[in-house]
Amino acid sequence: RTVYVNGDYLPETEAKVSIFDRGFLMADAVYEVTSVLGGKLIDFQGHAARLQRSLGELEMISPVTMDELLEIHHQLIARNDLDEGGIYLQITRGAGPDRDFVWPDPEEVKGGIVLFTFAKKLTAGKSLDEGIKVVSMEDIRWGRRDIKTTQLLYPSFAKMQAKKKGAADAWLVEDGFVTEGSSNNAYIVKDGVIITRQLSTDILHGITRASILKFAAEAQMKVEERPFTIEEAQQADEAFATSATGFSQPVVEIDGVRIGDGKPGPVSRRLREIYMEEMP
Ligand code: PDD
Repeated sequence: RTVYVNGDYLPETEAKVSIFDRGFLMADAVYEVTSVLGGKLIDFQGHAARLQRSLGELEMISPVTMDELLEIHHQLIARNDLDEGGIYLQITRGAGPDRDFVWPDPEEVKGGIVLFTFAKKLTAGKSLDEGIKVVSMEDIRWGRRDIKTTQLLYPSFAKMQAKKKGAADAWLVEDGFVTEGSSNNAYIVKDGVIITRQLSTDILHGITRASILKFAAEAQMKVEERPFTIEEAQQADEAFATSATGFSQPVVEIDGVRIGDGKPGPVSRRLREIYMEEMP
């Protein structure tokens, strides 16, 4: 693979970052994952806007403009001949002279930037045909989940716990209500109404979520943005999760309880179809 690191396109084996990079030492970094279908970027503008917001909230300065960032995405797709998969992008606060809790002056220390592509089948697979099982886990992440930072140890830990229990993902629960999945937004459907938690600092403002809710409204589907419990989810007609790399992923079991008839439901399937038609 050809990757991009701090201004250069290099073979992945030659790409290097400093051991003092704050992304590495302190997870002092923000990221985005944009999917690629048929060689085309899906919703780059949405991801770029959220990236700028994440950077702003953390008083970080991007080392590249958003136009340059788009060009780097296009270059990486072309250089790697990427048809289906995604692009990972990470911007860090850069490498200070030492490890320090105090941020370096952005005038003196430039941010670090890394991008790489990954090939992945997004349009088909067993998890889409059969749906996935999830288990609930306490949400003990920090309180600014609206900022897309690389502090991913807990989501990674939660997913591992889920795997140990024979499930594919964890749905995180705070004060009795589902916040979101380990790396996706969570939804249930009851009597034709799509229910998903409202936007706040408690969850990531999913780019796929925004598109899916827009398409749902255009298709005259009813949407309620409010919190729901695991018990309510277990009694729902269907459940699903959305993310850039999963689009709309059916969920068929929560904590060992089957949702509906235990098969992917019609609403998540329909939303997936609309999304795949409208987005590329
Ligand atoms: N995850 N919530 C969390 C905690 C996420 O990490 C993600 C994305 C989402 C969905 O956001 P979007 O629709 O913009 O992808 C929600 C990415 C895909 C990841 O970490 O790989």
